[in-house]
Amino acid sequence: MITKMLSDDEVGIAQAAQELQAGQVVGIPTETVYGLAANALDEAAVQRIFAAKGRPQDNPLIVHISSLDMLEKVVDAVPAKAYRLAEAFWPGPLTMVLPTAAGIAPSVTAGLGTVGVRLPVHPAARAVIRAAGVPLAAPSANKSGSPSPTTAQHVLQDMQGKIRYVLDGGACPVGVESTVLTLVGEPMVLRPGFVTAAEIAEILGQPVGTVGGDAYTGSNSTPPSPGMKYKHYAPNAEITIIDSELNEYIAYLAKLTDVTNTFALCFEGEEALLDIPCVTYGKADDAPSQAAALFAALRRLDALGAKTVYARRPAQDGVGLAVRNRLLRAASFREIKL
Ligand code: TXA
Ligand code: MG
Repeated sequence: MITKMLSDDEVGIAQAAQELQAGQVVGIPTETVYGLAANALDEAAVQRIFAAKGRPQDNPLIVHISSLDMLEKVVDAVPAKAYRLAEAFWPGPLTMVLPTAAGIAPSVTAGLGTVGVRLPVHPAARAVIRAAGVPLAAPSANKSGSPSPTTAQHVLQDMQGKIRYVLDGGACPVGVESTVLTLVGEPMVLRPGFVTAAEIAEILGQPVGTVGGDAYTGSNSTPPSPGMKYKHYAPNAEITIIDSELNEYIAYLAKLTDVTNTFALCFEGEEALLDIPCVTYGKADDAPSQAAALFAALRRLDALGAKTVYARRPAQDGVGLAVRNRLLRAASFREIKL
């Protein structure tokens, strides 16, 4: 099978929708990262996602809808809180975990009795869901363990020969996966993202915690969100985050004795200050720019054959927590505080 790129025009959307209605898997753009989509009501179709990704069966999938009407097909009894959050953050990068409706394919929920659902803002994502006429289950479209894809080309790298189509909707503007918030029990952020716990707390008028903090290490026996226990976003290189100011980072790198295949993962404009090859991820003190660039930077490091990477620390709050969460996993939690 040869994987083909579809453009996100009427013809491409119609082709993608037809493939989805036939129970097949299609790579689709969203504002966060590309997703590997299939009809969430069709168990055989959803199984094809797990096969293409090499994803463990106990890791549930997020269901994508194109309108609030569809929410009731996915969720059993939508609570008032969910409608308030939907009004504030949808369409957009917030996933809410709620009790699942009958009809959702069992492997979407991994038997948890709950379902993660979101209404994406990317116009091509919504157009393809509308055209398919069903909610779409879609995990990030990377091979299990690889950095999430933020361009259609990244999806091709991982999925060539495994699916028939990737819908090309350009580079994903957000760049890190959605915030996952459970509304079953006390509201809690299970995975930090572009929508922050503080913003959610303000809408709900109550405190909202982040389970395991922003650096969940996988030591709990039952992780809050099954996906958090798996090694993620891992490039081939060994990454270490250097928690320091820029001048200390520069001094640390200058003292390295063996710099074979060693790269700096730094911010734009810092390359000239460093003696080793650099890949950048956004601008210093600009978390959204770091989020947008991180996964492409990790793939670039692999393409360049990086073996050892020293990363600048991401912004320390807001969206920076989501960036830090992803980078820590890419670094297998290696971090040096100077
Ligand atoms: O931005 C995103 O969320 C992207 C795009 C494609 O929408 N999707 C995405 O899916 O990141 P995935 O499968 O790579 O990550 C979904 C995360 C996993 O950590 C999974 O364990 C968690 O959400 N999750 C899904 N359903 C859940 C549920 N019912 N309860 C708890 N966690 C859930
Ligand atoms: Mg993923």
